Amino acid sequence: MKNINKIVLSGVQPTGGLHIGNYLGAIKNFVSMQTEYDCFFCVVDLHAITVKQDPKLLKNNTYEVVATYLASGIDPTKSVIFNQSNVSSHSELAWIFNCITRMGWLNRMTQFKDKAGKDKENASSGLFIYPNLMAADILLYKATHVPVGDDQKQHLELTRDIAQKFNRDYECDSFFPIPEPIIDKNISRIMSLKNGELKMSKSDSSDYSRISLTDSADQIEKKIKKAKTADTSMPDNNEDVSKLFEVNNLLNIFSGFSGIDKLELIEKYKGQNFSNFKNSLTEVIIEHIKPISKEIDKLMNDKAYLNQIISSGAEKASEKANVTIKEVYDIIGFVRNET
Ligand code: TRP
Repeated sequence: MKNINKIVLSGVQPTGGLHIGNYLGAIKNFVSMQTEYDCFFCVVDLHAITVKQDPKLLKNNTYEVVATYLASGIDPTKSVIFNQSNVSSHSELAWIFNCITRMGWLNRMTQFKDKAGKDKENASSGLFIYPNLMAADILLYKATHVPVGDDQKQHLELTRDIAQKFNRDYECDSFFPIPEPIIDKNISRIMSLKNGELKMSKSDSSDYSRISLTDSADQIEKKIKKAKTADTSMPDNNEDVSKLFEVNNLLNIFSGFSGIDKLELIEKYKGQNFSNFKNSLTEVIIEHIKPISKEIDKLMNDKAYLNQIISSGAEKASEKANVTIKEVYDIIGFVRNET
């Protein structure tokens, strides 16, 4: 039984090339949340355009995220799958939050600094206020829980600050719930196959740093063969493993896909060189990825079905979002056209 007081919202950007880091670190866990929470899973296209996107690719990538949600096991009869730009109140609430957030708060956001890089003057203003839109995504549905990876923790903190300031400034105590992060200790951050200290990323220039959800069995085999390990054999304890970043990462991937505890894997492969381990890892990845990539492929060839999911998702999301935005406008003192 779902507890209706527990609402989850999360979003994935349609910027292409979803990889096993996105799957193991986020989407796979969305699937297991569906039974316990009322879930809203969003394709955040408004966030995507904070950096320049090719319109054709953006469309295709949006369909691909929807297809990946479905292929991974998100059930549209249990959860709401929708596209952010289809629900106009995301932009509306984001504007309100632009007027709540302080410049000082945004100036502390490390992701902006990372993404804007050295050329800050040339970054879009959207990239700077990006966290306000993310807060709008979350609070529009009065989400109580947000599954977040390390890189989004600071944005969720900001969301909590925004909710508190709004409630305080407008004297509407607990109008917005203060959302809690869901940080699952069993979920590891998946790192690059070439450098275990860097996050697996679609923007890494080397294709060998990541495994995409649409990679063929051959590609997966090649990438795991080439993946960096260590000059030693597999250590016999977790402490030593954790010092070998790349080995640790491969064990996390193995454990993430197979469900076998990392310590059990260490026990099995300790003292061996890495070839046996890599062969089994390749098999495990292929076994789990293949049905998903096949289904993504099938769904991408059925745009009519994807459009139907997107349209019914927009309807369900709007129903809830429209109530919140009306309440917000009322609280703020906007005179509404009631005719
Ligand atoms: N900023 C998130 C990311 O880049 C995506 C996102 C947008 C999100 N809105 C959200 C995640 C709301 C959780 C909740 O990964």
